[in-house]
Amino acid sequence: MDAFLRKLGIELPIIQAPMAGVSTPEMAAIVSNSGGLGSIGVGPNDAETTRQLIAAVRSRTQRPFNVNVFCNQPAVPDAVREAAWLARLAPEFARYGAQPPVRLTEIYQSFLTDDAKLSVFLDERPAVVSFHFGLPARDRIEALRAAGIVLLATATNLEEGKAVAQAGIDAVVAQGYEAGGHRGIFDPAAPDDRLGTMALTRILASRLDLPVIAAGGIMDGAGIAAALALGATAAQLGTAFIACPESSADAGYRSALLGPAAEHTVMTAAISGRPARCLTNRLTALGAGVEPRAIPDYPIAYDAAKHLHTVAKRAGEFGYGAQWAGQGAPLAREAPTAELVARLRNELETALSARR
Ligand SMILES: Cc1cc2nc3c(=O)[nH]c(=O)nc-3n(C[C@H](O)[C@H](O)[C@H](O)COP(=O)(O)O)c2cc1C
Repeated sequence: MDAFLRKLGIELPIIQAPMAGVSTPEMAAIVSNSGGLGSIGVGPNDAETTRQLIAAVRSRTQRPFNVNVFCNQPAVPDAVREAAWLARLAPEFARYGAQPPVRLTEIYQSFLTDDAKLSVFLDERPAVVSFHFGLPARDRIEALRAAGIVLLATATNLEEGKAVAQAGIDAVVAQGYEAGGHRGIFDPAAPDDRLGTMALTRILASRLDLPVIAAGGIMDGAGIAAALALGATAAQLGTAFIACPESSADAGYRSALLGPAAEHTVMTAAISGRPARCLTNRLTALGAGVEPRAIPDYPIAYDAAKHLHTVAKRAGEFGYGAQWAGQGAPLAREAPTAELVARLRNELETALSARR
């Protein structure tokens, strides 16, 4: 068995992606109990909730699991830009008889500055912690490593991959442009080469002396086998798990994902302030053609989108949800998590034995 999977303590090269707002402790525990690595996304949660979520996974599994945080640069508020953004969205709120909020806030704190969450990790010692949007300071990485925690971090290009390797992280998540949800790019204002999963996985596997976990557009055993053939140690799947009953995706999100809407996804920064891939819907339409300078910083813009979704949903309109999904969305399956992992295992075995 692969040395890194042994280090992680998992038998399958399958990581259920951390999906803030969608993955649940129940889902993570089932994936870990099925031989993969389950994950929870606690980027938006405070330290106390993080502790409770870790306990909720632990109450369902003895196996290792991953806890994921956001390492974005803290938001830079800009009252003028935020007011203009709210004014722009006002007609959408008006459709549902509502007013936009008076002001927007940075709805959650980056792990870069969150000492309380670091303390929870050092107390609770989950087997794995992963970073998205960048890397924490060296002393935080050292403290987590000294606590025996295996660390993973997302990279979207070779430069970020090298930074991950130099920081002493144990493995890099190669997130291609196909991927659903937020793009892990460190600096969202920097030029983006938009590398696909195939090229990025191969580049990182051949240029870094670090295990590579491929992410983006991988939906079944054939996709996992393809990632392994490119030199990846494991595959991280997000969109594949959204339609599982254990996810917290709402009914509108599920039906969009399982219907023709899944055939169209778009990368947009207009929902949260950072580029993220979403099923095209009313919310993504609002972002079309918007100049990046007009969008409030991440996650301030997300505050507005969440308010709009809440008022529209109350009126029965689900189309303003942050319905994150990758380009493999048409391949999404509606199956209980345990059954999905069992199918992935069988499909992977079939794909690997066909290759022999
Ligand atoms: C609904 C959703 C939420 C996500 N939330 C997170 C998150 O909280 N943290 C993170 O590191 N990645 C997050 N991601 C990205 C995944 O880690 C992964 O890169 C992506 O799902 C891979 O592409 P795929 O969706 O095509 O499988 C999210 C993805 C989705 C679809």
